[in-house]
Amino acid sequence: MTGGLNMKEWTREEKYRILRDPQELLPLYERIKESVYRQTYHNQAVTGLMNDPNGFVWHDNKWHLFYQWCPWGAVHGLKHWYHIVSTDLVTWKNLGLCLIPDHGSGYDNKGAYSGSAMPIDDKIYLYYTGNHRDEDWTRHAYTCLARLSKDGWVEKYPLPLFGENPDYTEHQRDPKIIIRPESDSYYIIIGAKSKEGKGCALIYSSEDLQRGWNFLGELKVPGFEDFGDMWECPTIEHIGGKDVLLFCPQHLAIRGRGNSRHHNGYILGKMDWDRLEFLPEGSFHVLDFGFDSYAAACANNIQDKDKAILIAWMGLPDAAYPTDEEDWAGCLTLPRELTVRGRRLIQRPLPEIRKLRNDRVTIEKDPNGIFRLPAAAEMEIDCREGPHEIRLFTDEKGVGGIRISCDYLQTEISVDRSGLKKRFNTEDGEVRTRPLESGLTHLRIFIDSSSVEIFVNDGDAVFTSRVFPDREEHYCSIKGDSFVKMWTMNRAVKEQFLV
Ligand code: FRU
Repeated sequence: MTGGLNMKEWTREEKYRILRDPQELLPLYERIKESVYRQTYHNQAVTGLMNDPNGFVWHDNKWHLFYQWCPWGAVHGLKHWYHIVSTDLVTWKNLGLCLIPDHGSGYDNKGAYSGSAMPIDDKIYLYYTGNHRDEDWTRHAYTCLARLSKDGWVEKYPLPLFGENPDYTEHQRDPKIIIRPESDSYYIIIGAKSKEGKGCALIYSSEDLQRGWNFLGELKVPGFEDFGDMWECPTIEHIGGKDVLLFCPQHLAIRGRGNSRHHNGYILGKMDWDRLEFLPEGSFHVLDFGFDSYAAACANNIQDKDKAILIAWMGLPDAAYPTDEEDWAGCLTLPRELTVRGRRLIQRPLPEIRKLRNDRVTIEKDPNGIFRLPAAAEMEIDCREGPHEIRLFTDEKGVGGIRISCDYLQTEISVDRSGLKKRFNTEDGEVRTRPLESGLTHLRIFIDSSSVEIFVNDGDAVFTSRVFPDREEHYCSIKGDSFVKMWTMNRAVKEQFLV
């Protein structure tokens, strides 16, 4: 799906080209860093394509995070793990490459795919999918382990922890390592596609993080036996006394989401680890109501056991983006704190994000109520009764842009991106809507050079989307009875060439 964009055709050789000398990427980086769409306070790759966040973990007084990275351009080719760190989840430091696929016949010869991490003593253990292709291009998935020392030294274990399960298709990936609450048992949950073409999750266990992994069985989720054909990036988290199954069911139609077939969502319920059964309490909810969010990962080894911190890829599989022609694509969302309220997950930006606020901006409206938007900004809007309409990224006259609106009775909020000049992935639909249970009281909007994250009513819903405004599209208009505050935001990640 290209949504009208010109996608470059990549040959297999180009997609899976081995990175022998990082300096080869320097000219690409020099060109990409000049793009007007480079982000200020969201993580993005130095060159090429980034997708899923991986190995999110607290260790040695730092947050470690990795992401899927294909260096050569905006293409899902040879995937590496790139390493970044933070002490506050707000400002980040790039550390460079961590997992590099083995050449030749290695278990991960065609990519070190997504996974997770757990610390033991002074090392971080990285659980990932070795995406292997035979000479005839048959795919095999291996669950692999590597360990990372403090000095950045990475050792891959010579043999995988386990190979693919012959009772399922070759689609088996994305190990999430889990310590069962109140016990010392370890589990790995991986996403899979059954031979009947149904999405599911497989569970393995061991008493030892480094060896002895056994297949326990397929996770039973009553009512979800036929729900998408492959579940990517599954995890089970324990938040506020509830269990949450988060996953990305593929090739599933969901009402109100256009032709989009890639969704990231969750089910609240109760996990019975002995019976390998997740008993849903309620239905599947999408995690994010915006257009570009996928493969969310929750951090491991969080000190406050009742909390969860989530970060996602601000992008979608099989989708083309306007920066593809500049040879880069993708970024990460802001990390969010997850809590449970009633039958929903609440997602809030972390309190620390306030540190990025620079000067409070005096909003100078022209006679038509239009004002200029900074390239990187945070906006807080207290909404009172009645209808509201906020247009971001309009032209000087307040025309076009992305339109956030709610009706007079405030029964639902919608985000319409059809007014933007650069339209993309239009097949996924251009309007997303979410019912409002008790009106609209508050909006917190994070604007960066090519993204917007809209938090509604203190985390009740979030809309995350990429936006690629033209030179004229840097204005805003706000209608309705509200009080608006705005800050410019500081840089959170240094732009530097580090591979
Ligand atoms: C999700 C995903 C994972 C896979 C990875 C490869 O976006 O397809 O299932 O491990 O991306 O980059």
